[in-house]
Amino acid sequence: MRDLLEFVRGCTFDDFLFSPQQSVLDRRDPAAIDLSSRLSQHLTLKRPLVSANMDTVTRAEMAIAVAEEGGIGIIDRGFRSGDIEPQVREVLKVKRRQHGVIANPYTIEPGATLRDAAETMRRTGVGTLVVVDAAQTLVGLLTSRDLQFVDQFSDTTVAARMTPKDRLVVSEDSVDLSAAETIMRRHKIKKLPLVDTDGRLAGLITAKDLMKQRQLPFATRDSHGRLRVGAAIGAKGDFLERAKELLRAGADVIVIDIAHGHSVVMARAIDAFRKHFGDTELIAGNVATGAGTRFLIERGVNGIKVGIGPGGGCTTRLNTNFGVPQVQALVECRDAAGGTVPLIADGGIKRDGAIVQALLFGGDTVMLGSVLAGTTETPGDTVQKAVVIPESSKTVKVPFKVFRGMASLQAIVDRLDVEDAESADVEALGAEGMEISVPARGSVRPLLRDMLKHLVSAVSYGGARSLADMQQMFAADPMRYVIRLTESSRRESFER
Ligand code: XMP
Repeated sequence: MRDLLEFVRGCTFDDFLFSPQQSVLDRRDPAAIDLSSRLSQHLTLKRPLVSANMDTVTRAEMAIAVAEEGGIGIIDRGFRSGDIEPQVREVLKVKRRQHGVIANPYTIEPGATLRDAAETMRRTGVGTLVVVDAAQTLVGLLTSRDLQFVDQFSDTTVAARMTPKDRLVVSEDSVDLSAAETIMRRHKIKKLPLVDTDGRLAGLITAKDLMKQRQLPFATRDSHGRLRVGAAIGAKGDFLERAKELLRAGADVIVIDIAHGHSVVMARAIDAFRKHFGDTELIAGNVATGAGTRFLIERGVNGIKVGIGPGGGCTTRLNTNFGVPQVQALVECRDAAGGTVPLIADGGIKRDGAIVQALLFGGDTVMLGSVLAGTTETPGDTVQKAVVIPESSKTVKVPFKVFRGMASLQAIVDRLDVEDAESADVEALGAEGMEISVPARGSVRPLLRDMLKHLVSAVSYGGARSLADMQQMFAADPMRYVIRLTESSRRESFER
């Protein structure tokens, strides 16, 4: 590791290629190759991709797409200070997207008529109503089949036609989805109501939802089958209140995200977070040195975001001259973390080949901002801009979306918080990010799938069977892989 550290000092992604090894794979099939990796100490992703907590990258739509493809999105905190609800709403949207367990199934009282039931089914579009009494105690299930061949809809009660509780298979609300599936298969049932210890309705699992789960086998889900999502907070101001609400909404991990994570401000924030939320999964950043990494580990974080200044929308290095080239940062931070706390390689990924570099030099996952910019799932409006085609000098309208650094003046002014600074302080701060227009393109999903295909190809070139396998082989003998480029070999490799 020490040799590698010396070798990569001052270097970043475009300074290296990897030497191809003898391949041991028959097929380069992303469905067959294990690309799983830890996001943080207690959260593993099947795909090592994280969408950046930036207000032009990750809101619910992006977080849903990335989680369905096997990664995770971190909802940004780019909302006005004190205005917590909009961020909470984005988290809720993600958590409600897929129903492993339907937490609030549609219900009806046993004394209601079949006419009422038919009307409820028509209005809600569901074919099963859970029958509960006034105390929400489960008393039966009524399906659209129970309404067939009944003449007296207005006279017959739900109780008369429902399947009563004593003939139902019911489970406790703590059941996980695979156990639920086993129960449903064994009893050949399509609906499994869940109850709490007092017999009150706690949810419903349907065979249809379990099928949906199978269609997205790599999706990142919690034990209830809901998509996982992370949410960012700051280190001052409303950050604890924000964390509380985000966790209540179901956020699976909180990210304390500030520009300089190796700071007293961060230390205070982590202490306060731990005091309020115990061992809740916590990622913190950003740092880019061994000392910064140890500092966060000593304070008990579960994951670390690495990267000072490599970001596509970032001007920190231009404006302050501080920062660490990203490959050096990753190797240094990996050396300091020693594999105890997972690292997120955050920033600087402009081409798919850099993903495998980030994952071998030290990242457990990669955080992506600018490469996802302009896709349909990014927040923000699409605007038509006039563009001159050089060949014909003709002007055409091209759709664009905005991408901006979170420390750009525009982003700061929009949220006017920067850890609750007075607006005068904001001016004094100076921007460390920029705003640019990027061409609007289609969905992010093919982009993510291409990244994964390229990563699988890299595993093949790397002589490994899985991502973890390749990371181990690389760590054991990095010099077998790493080739430092000259000016001309860099041109040969990356200029097209
Ligand atoms: P990419 O290269 O994927 O990087 O766009 C995304 C990461 O860039 C960081 N970021 C910033 N850094 N000033 C900075 O110094 C900024 O305004 C800024 N905005 C985003 C952030 O770590 C993100 O995940």
